Amino acid sequence: MNTAVLIENLTFKYDIDEILKNIDINIPKGSFVSILGPNGSGKTTLLKNICNILKPDNGKIIINNRNVTNIKYKELAKIIAVVHQSPDIQFDFSVLDVVLMGRFPYIGRFKSESKKDIDIAKEAMQNTGIWELRDKSINEISGGEKQRVMIARALAQQPEILILDEPISNLDIKYQVGILELCKKLNKENKLTIIMTLHDINLAGRYSDYLILLDRGKIKTMDTPEKVLTQENISNVYDIKVDILKRNGDKTPYIIPV
Ligand SMILES: Nc1ncnc2c1ncn2[C@@H]1O[C@H](COP(=O)(O)OP(=O)(O)OP(=O)(O)O)[C@@H](O)[C@H]1O
Ligand SMILES: [Mg+2]
Repeated sequence: MNTAVLIENLTFKYDIDEILKNIDINIPKGSFVSILGPNGSGKTTLLKNICNILKPDNGKIIINNRNVTNIKYKELAKIIAVVHQSPDIQFDFSVLDVVLMGRFPYIGRFKSESKKDIDIAKEAMQNTGIWELRDKSINEISGGEKQRVMIARALAQQPEILILDEPISNLDIKYQVGILELCKKLNKENKLTIIMTLHDINLAGRYSDYLILLDRGKIKTMDTPEKVLTQENISNVYDIKVDILKRNGDKTPYIIPV
């Protein structure tokens, strides 16, 4: 099995308390993995460790057989693209300019973007339904539109691994399904490895090959949705009672709070 991301014995703390504790994960190349867990359980912290924004206190992260800390920024940007949970863009860039920023690992110093870069950005924008917004300022569009702009920027980066932190939290139901369908299509057709966090357990179960259930900085379980989405796991980690339903002919469990 080819590995996209290997996490070995990862421990991380911001201050004194360990936020991530002895994490071991093997994410296969070309898989679609969702990380679930309550607010504050460490999902964003884990993603930031994977893409080298935060450095582990212990353990290591291996990407393409190399420790992520040894991969140069621009080279890493060709391998991993990240869509952050709360993106912050200070300046008044146009939507098209923001998406074109995704091409930076491919554009040489003092060069401007080529027709190919613009075509790739355009395709990413059409796929996320924002091409019509291209001339608007990034600060004058809605929260959900901005979220789709950040996804388009990550797609324009043409990474091997796409990391998305709550990518559908601001989206209406059509775009929630649209973005997840797009991720699934790129996952299947382009073998793009997808690692995302989601609060919607049912959508995570429906789209993911594997789920990682995080509980106060530790891995409760990592397995297929059928194995992870049990009454016991969900009750233990989220401290609520749930029923498990299955639609006819569908092997993915659906969670309903009771
Ligand atoms: N920059 C920071 N400095 C100190 N502590 C932090 C920082 N960022 C997060 N934390 C703490 O680390 C823990 C994990 O936070 P993290 O953002 O990884 O959680 P999460 O699982 O992504 O939560 P959510 O579902 O709300 O996005 C929380 O207790 C949080 O308060
Ligand atoms: Mg988070």
